[in-house]
Amino acid sequence: MKRSNALDRQRAIYARGAAGLLQSVPFDPAVLERKAAERMTPEALAYIAGGAGLERSMASNTGDFDRWRIVPRMLRDVDERDTAVDLFGHRIPAPFFLAPIGVLEMAHRDADLAIAAAAAQAGIPYIFSNQASVPMERCAAAMETAPRFFQLYWSRSDELVASFLQRAEACGCSAVVLTLDTTMLGWRTRDLDFASLPFLQGKGIAQYTSDPVFLRLLDTWETQPTPKSPVTLSAIRTLIAANRRFPGPFFKNLFSGKGLQAVRVFTQLYSRPNITWKDLPFLRKHTNLPVILKGILHPDDAKKALDYGIDGIYVSNHGGRQVDGSISAIAALPGIVDAVRGKVPVLFDSGVRGGADAFKALALGATAVGIGRPYCYALAIRGRAGVSELLDNWIADLELTMGLAGCMSIDEIRQPGTIQTGRF
Ligand SMILES: Cc1cc2nc3c(=O)[nH]c(=O)nc-3n(C[C@H](O)[C@H](O)[C@H](O)COP(=O)(O)O)c2cc1C
Repeated sequence: MKRSNALDRQRAIYARGAAGLLQSVPFDPAVLERKAAERMTPEALAYIAGGAGLERSMASNTGDFDRWRIVPRMLRDVDERDTAVDLFGHRIPAPFFLAPIGVLEMAHRDADLAIAAAAAQAGIPYIFSNQASVPMERCAAAMETAPRFFQLYWSRSDELVASFLQRAEACGCSAVVLTLDTTMLGWRTRDLDFASLPFLQGKGIAQYTSDPVFLRLLDTWETQPTPKSPVTLSAIRTLIAANRRFPGPFFKNLFSGKGLQAVRVFTQLYSRPNITWKDLPFLRKHTNLPVILKGILHPDDAKKALDYGIDGIYVSNHGGRQVDGSISAIAALPGIVDAVRGKVPVLFDSGVRGGADAFKALALGATAVGIGRPYCYALAIRGRAGVSELLDNWIADLELTMGLAGCMSIDEIRQPGTIQTGRF
């Protein structure tokens, strides 16, 4: 059994402290968010930190972890602790993965590339977002053989969906994560207050502008009329931003109108609200990769997914960004684990803010736990190094929580009695 290094990590932090050096990524999640906020524009912060409506789902995602409490057991010899698990063909050092997050260029210029490098270094899988700021092939190249998955939004062009799947397979992704909860953008109050949508500036559409099918669609897609914006300084800035981000020389893009056309076509095809279960076999036809459904919150949907031969269930409410007042992801988890009965892996995210939260999700039956907003904040604070720091801390935190609770392995966390629920 592998001897893990949480104590080494802890010692290193205190040793640096003795030399007057503090970590750059704060440990308290609220302080982490505040420090990151200082590094971002108000619009970027609104996009990353914000949720739908009154942000009640966001609050219950974190708050509902308190419905369960860990029950530590004593005198169990926890000197040797092993946090490794298996996930879609990979033995990974800890049961974490980096959730797909779009438009990371709003947090830091290195964006997805910084995450890819930090994830690869830690051996923690990274799920490339469909709305990435860097094409999947570039991120994959930065990861060498480290595990990565691709997250897909089903667009109005099946040909484009097939092309994304084929690219994901070609660049070494081990699974496809189909996100179901964002067939339309949620009512995101903070973004609405700023009237700010990053995609309109050409941000977060790198998977599209690097795709041969999408580039072809720029000439053939019949765009619908869009609301006219008045010609203001901001409108000109938006136009410049869109053309700057489109591949190729700026002036060529400006005069050909390609940059703006890419944004226009993207906004009209990026999502298809009429997808149903009947569309799922299309994925099977176009990829051999395992397919995971993200956004499952009802046990019946999980059972139905199994009937359709789906290879993984991903419990998530998109960090409270879609349906305000929806069930929290952690409250939904036990029912879904029950419905799945161990037939496929159950991934989980939304509201996880440290090792104890991860412990609870694992105890409730999650196979692996997704880190979301916290890694964006670490990225905003210190780029790749910040994300590495955060991953090391989270792995150490989970390992210590596990050992102090009397568990030597992730399997032991899943034994009955490690957590309890009820009135406290
Ligand atoms: C800024 C931002 C962008 C996101 N982009 C995507 C995306 O492109 N695809 C996706 O499936 N989920 C996306 N998500 C949802 C995350 O994958 C994940 O479900 C969520 O962040 C979990 O909530 P938490 O960050 O509060 O823990 C995004 C979340 C945030 C905060």
